[in-house]
Amino acid sequence: MKIYAAKDYNDMSRKAANIISAQILLKPDAVLGLATGSTPVGAYRQLIEKHEAGDLDFSRIHSVNLDEYKGLSGDHDQSYRYFMNHNLFDHVNIDKANTNVPNGLAEDPEAECKRYNHVIEEEGGIDLQLLGIGNNGHIGFNEPCDVFEKGTHVVTLTEETRQSNARFFTSIDEVPTHALTMGVGNIMSAKKVLLLASGEGKAKALYESCFGPVTPQVPASVLQLHSDVVVIADEAALSLIRKNTGWEDMIYDN
Ligand code: F6R
Repeated sequence: MKIYAAKDYNDMSRKAANIISAQILLKPDAVLGLATGSTPVGAYRQLIEKHEAGDLDFSRIHSVNLDEYKGLSGDHDQSYRYFMNHNLFDHVNIDKANTNVPNGLAEDPEAECKRYNHVIEEEGGIDLQLLGIGNNGHIGFNEPCDVFEKGTHVVTLTEETRQSNARFFTSIDEVPTHALTMGVGNIMSAKKVLLLASGEGKAKALYESCFGPVTPQVPASVLQLHSDVVVIADEAALSLIRKNTGWEDMIYDN
């Protein structure tokens, strides 16, 4: 695991966009695993700028998103399909037919999860998986629990996650109670993982994920077992690591 320090959110986003761009330049038909939420928005904005400047071509890129709320259609403005269209896909030359997000309205969600595992396999696996991290250490919607779930599955969202995501909805009652999410196994089979973290709210989860025991109670801690993980975190998110570990030499300041 390599941890890169960023000054702030913008710096984190710039560094992340540089790594994603490098992936696209090195493998123009790469499969990108993408995330939603506040964290990657700045990086997506920078990717759009690079595309507009003529430096980045998405025409052969395929993508698989981590998760989707159960019960929301792709046109719902809080669905993750809508988020991806709005924050990235509508602004670059990606072929939307090559973009995948679980179907939140699937009549048979279990069958949809199986189909999604199959999609990832058919795509040939994920070259670069982008991740944010929940305040409780979740990745995708893999919430703290007793076992690591391998494949895509339906999950009950914790109250903490619903509260934290309520900021995007008009009230907490509108936040779905369930989601479809890639499993930890899907994420771990990505060739490379890029985890972003910004803000003090993420400091504890980040510290425990990087330096605590590997446990499904802190789902992101499993990334310690992946051979190619890059973490980019701003100083607020790094604050507990800086204070507690004595492993400062593991942090690349540049
Ligand atoms: C989003 C996702 C979640 C978020 C996490 C952090 O697709 O899978 O794990 O990355 O909840 O959310 P933000 O970035 O809003 O703090």
